[in-house]
Amino acid sequence: MPDEAMWDRFFDAPAVLQRLGLRSDARCVVEFGSGYGTFTLPAARLIRGKVLAFDIEPDLVALVQGKAQAAGLTNVVCTVRDFVTTGTGLADGATDYVMLFNILHAEQPETLLREAWRILQPGGRLAIIHWNYDPSTPRGPSMAIRPRPEQCRVWAEAAGFRLLAPGLIPLPPYHYGLVLERPAEHHAAR
Ligand SMILES: C[S@@+](CC[C@H](N)C(=O)[O-])C[C@H]1O[C@@H](n2cnc3c(N)ncnc32)[C@H](O)[C@@H]1O
Repeated sequence: MPDEAMWDRFFDAPAVLQRLGLRSDARCVVEFGSGYGTFTLPAARLIRGKVLAFDIEPDLVALVQGKAQAAGLTNVVCTVRDFVTTGTGLADGATDYVMLFNILHAEQPETLLREAWRILQPGGRLAIIHWNYDPSTPRGPSMAIRPRPEQCRVWAEAAGFRLLAPGLIPLPPYHYGLVLERPAEHHAAR
């Protein structure tokens, strides 16, 4: 990742969360890879529930937990964890909104999406952000591993998600978003 000041300039985080449908009544948001907390703190300010943020880097986890504390946000819990190899450790259906932001170039995107599906309650939402599939962006993973939005959709649908309207959400200047749903279970009519 670039340094924090540069990274933060790529996003208007509150606007992004609003465009991706995060609502104030969210009960529990889970973030895979919280980085500098670019989206962690804005999410915590927006919702009445809690934000569970996971990252593999202890220094980043301490940074974000410290920022939340300094901001008086008591609804942020940051945890050091490798979610590719060990998942989140959360219970099935523990969350109603998952953020997979700038992480699906990871080695096992399908593993992350299956874990997101497992921890989401039926009807819960998955929000994805990634760098535009465009070599002229000033940063971002190499094009060899950078997923196209269509690829993210295919992976997510294979994990059981359903893409919600409007589909591709441009997040200028350099990103796109997708919002998907873990479909609610259908109960047979009595
Ligand atoms: C490109 S940054 C994105 C940070 C944040 N989601 C954002 O968009 O601002 C990816 C983050 O995921 C973390 N990460 C990468 N692989 C991970 C893994 N296997 N387990 C936990 N965290 C991981 C990195 O340490 C990094 O902080």
